[in-house]
Amino acid sequence: MATATAPAKSMPQIVALCKRRGFVFPASEIYGGINGFWDFGPLGTQLKNNLRDAWWRDMVHSPPSGPDGQPLEIVGLDSSIIQNPRVWEASGHVSGFSDPMADCRACKARFRADDLIGVELIFPDVPEPNKRNFLICGVGTPEEVLETNTKKIQKLQGANGPYERLSSHHVFSELNEEGRAEFSCPNCGEKGHLTEPREFKLMFETYVGAVRDEESKTYLRPETAQGIFLNYKNVLDTMRVKLPFGIAQIGKAFRNEVTPRNFIYRSREFEQMEMEWFCRPADAPKWFAFWQERRLTWWRSMGLGAENLRVRPHGADELSHYARGGSGTVDIEYRFPFTDPDFAELEGIAHRTDFDLKAHQTQAGIKLEYFDQEHNARYLPHVVEPAAGLTRGVLAVLCEAYTPDPARPSKVYMRFHPKLAPIQAAVFPLVAKDGMPEVAGKLYRELRGRFTCRLDIKQSIGKRYARMDEAGTPYCFTVDGQTLSDQSVTVRHRDTAAQERIGIDHVTDFLAQRIKG
Ligand code: GAP
Repeated sequence: MATATAPAKSMPQIVALCKRRGFVFPASEIYGGINGFWDFGPLGTQLKNNLRDAWWRDMVHSPPSGPDGQPLEIVGLDSSIIQNPRVWEASGHVSGFSDPMADCRACKARFRADDLIGVELIFPDVPEPNKRNFLICGVGTPEEVLETNTKKIQKLQGANGPYERLSSHHVFSELNEEGRAEFSCPNCGEKGHLTEPREFKLMFETYVGAVRDEESKTYLRPETAQGIFLNYKNVLDTMRVKLPFGIAQIGKAFRNEVTPRNFIYRSREFEQMEMEWFCRPADAPKWFAFWQERRLTWWRSMGLGAENLRVRPHGADELSHYARGGSGTVDIEYRFPFTDPDFAELEGIAHRTDFDLKAHQTQAGIKLEYFDQEHNARYLPHVVEPAAGLTRGVLAVLCEAYTPDPARPSKVYMRFHPKLAPIQAAVFPLVAKDGMPEVAGKLYRELRGRFTCRLDIKQSIGKRYARMDEAGTPYCFTVDGQTLSDQSVTVRHRDTAAQERIGIDHVTDFLAQRIKG
């Protein structure tokens, strides 16, 4: 089965499996797709719902205990995607939520300015005075840039011999004008046609009502968080909560990303799982540290490998407008196959201070202060926000689960944590005769009320196991000739492909013990 040194995970192969097995499809595929939008198929939807439900359970139904051992209080919310446009003026999104973008004047291609990378190469065998540095240009990590320019590099090697790699640069932040002039467009290859970066607004605009004018213009929410701030007072007035407490929300967010890429990693429509933790300002640093540790532990409990996760503090130049002046922001990062050996953001944890409540208090002219009976004081609470991507979380779970195994007929299996697996159990009759389908059907009907379960009758048993390996089903139960005489079935374990026999009466308990909610 899986070899000691695991083969590298290939993103194109993961994307192909997602399509083949019904996890993720390109949106509007029969019309040629639409860049930055994806549809979740039957297995992907169930996987996403399982991850979403696990988050909700661990945040709202059964929040963790705080540093003092007392259970925390977190309540749920489901706010509107479209809100009054003044919300987005107050939140700073209308004026500040944009990405710098650069265009190629030659081919009109558009790039996120901070994605554009130049990697410098030098050819040591070239004698002076002809020796010079070459700039290899592209989008992505330096490794991706070199990979997409293989042909060009081979040509240079043919003429100049082996090369040495020097530093890589972000085009706009690190290269001077001379360096930038050397930059050839990653799309058309023309040199020196890149415009200076301009701010590109990320919020999708829409109009409410019959008239399309400035008055009726509003936005699709770019984060779920603002709905929480808008309802903070409603929750205070109705739920008898006291500081510190949290409000959690899961839902869609929309960003007109300049360059959606890496499958569902950066899309234009995605889901977030956000929790705003309201606390006394003086306690915010303590909670900021607490939530970092909790969220990292949670992602591990979803099956993500500790070696593929890390916490990275933001530099001062990276802080979002709402987090300046707080104790900081960190990203929980995952090592995706397309960033490996580097990592990329999975969740952000920010100390948002009282930025949002203060902004809405001013804009709406409504007092949002909290009366702290214990300290006999009125103030705006501070907020610590763990903001996770559900869509991005599904991608991390898919990448982690993808396990190449040349020894299997399927050559790959999806090693999901059993509680996340979209199909938790499959039931097969060994052959479709001799009363086996009837017994298998009865077992299936017993299981399906408690577990996500499939009954598969047709094709060879090997093909059925292979299909379940690609779906990531942790346990397959097969009814065979022996079942009819001794009431036992085989259980096949996905990760080892090992089989054992258990009594058919014990299947429910067997699953319940292994698939904990
Ligand atoms: N309320 C704070 C906030 O929205 P963010 O870091 O912009 O912070 C939080 O977003 C999370 O949402 C990110 O860590 C990421 O997982 C997810 N996310 C953001 N933009 C995304 C996109 N274009 N596609 C998929 N997920 C995205």
